[in-house]
Amino acid sequence: MKKRIAILPGDGIGKEVTRGAVEVLQAIGERFGHQFSFSYGKIGGGAVDEMGTPLPDETTRLCKDSDAVLLGAVGGPKWDQIPVHLRPERGLLKIRKELDLYANLRPTLYYSSLADASPLKKEVIEDVDLLMVRELTGGLYFGKPSERSTQDGRDVVVDTLFYQKEEMTRVIKLAFELAQNRGGKVTSVDKANVLESSRMWREVAEEVAKDFPEVTLEHMLVDNAAMQMVRNPKQFDVVVTENMFGDILSDEASVLTGSLGMLPSASISEKGPYLYEPIHGSAPDIEGQNIANPLATILSVAMMLRLSFGLEEEAQAVEASVNEVLNNGFRTKDIASPGKKLVSTTEMVEEVKATILDNEATQS
Ligand code: NAI
Ligand code: MG
Repeated sequence: MKKRIAILPGDGIGKEVTRGAVEVLQAIGERFGHQFSFSYGKIGGGAVDEMGTPLPDETTRLCKDSDAVLLGAVGGPKWDQIPVHLRPERGLLKIRKELDLYANLRPTLYYSSLADASPLKKEVIEDVDLLMVRELTGGLYFGKPSERSTQDGRDVVVDTLFYQKEEMTRVIKLAFELAQNRGGKVTSVDKANVLESSRMWREVAEEVAKDFPEVTLEHMLVDNAAMQMVRNPKQFDVVVTENMFGDILSDEASVLTGSLGMLPSASISEKGPYLYEPIHGSAPDIEGQNIANPLATILSVAMMLRLSFGLEEEAQAVEASVNEVLNNGFRTKDIASPGKKLVSTTEMVEEVKATILDNEATQS
């Protein structure tokens, strides 16, 4: 199989972790006989410095011409004081919009070898395997009007929660499709006891559910969901929700099973290409020290193999290698614990690559 992949390293540790993930893709290509070609584009603060914009047109073009996009992270204190329209995060929002990425997928998976990395009790998080599906293009973050004004001498403000029904349908349908290949359960999160938008959301979920008789649908109010997420996260399989609820719940879910440095994500569109990125930021505090955990980005590449290229066996080879390396006691600083082997970013990448290629040797 031949695939073109756009790499947008961005700022800070983005460069270090994407370099590692590219090497892992090359190892997969070698083991399974695929040709992955990589083209690099600028985004974020570095792009502002060099080209005066956080998302140059040529980066957008590069992404649209590719089969998938891998992004590191953007931002850092160097750009904190610049005008809003030039902020590195603008580049990220704009590329999501340009590619029409309507759903953000964040899997949270329990790694028994990292049980002590979570603030929650082992009994609570053991065997957690949930997938958050967050709507990404609508809702409160994009609705107009969003403005301040004065009414009868008082300062007032309005934000608008706007959705087209189709925007709800496509993301809920995606959640059902994903649940079909997982635990067969969708939890749809809303605030239907208060919000009209949530009542429509609930109706749409019921409608979509009719096409998926083998998937169980459950509705949950968002305040309860926030509580259940830490009280009994094992009850969840696929969780689908609108933009702001998803923003909050997906961050909450991400602390269940360990370090920011372990958590991948995928953003999906109708036509593709999809965009993959670790959920962490550019971590300026550890930039350039070769200590960042590359596994979130490597696991994002596994999602790319599975969702963009349909390469399930290859995706599992990456995930199995990550598991094996952790079970063998290798740890970057963020997941270090006594008695384990502390390794650098590049050493961790070497371990994963070697495991991918070793497993080929033992299988053939
Ligand atoms: P952050 O995720 O960059 O870092 C938070 C903490 O986690 C830091 O102590 C960092 O060292 C650590 N950390 C993060 N990723 C790690 C990894 N792979 N390995 C080991 N340790 C890791 O969030 P923070 O500090 O709030 O933001 C830093 C910059 O990143 C800001 O400019 C922010 O706007 C940007 N950011 C960008 C995102 C993106 O590009 N998607 C997402 C979040 C923040
Ligand atoms: Mg967030």
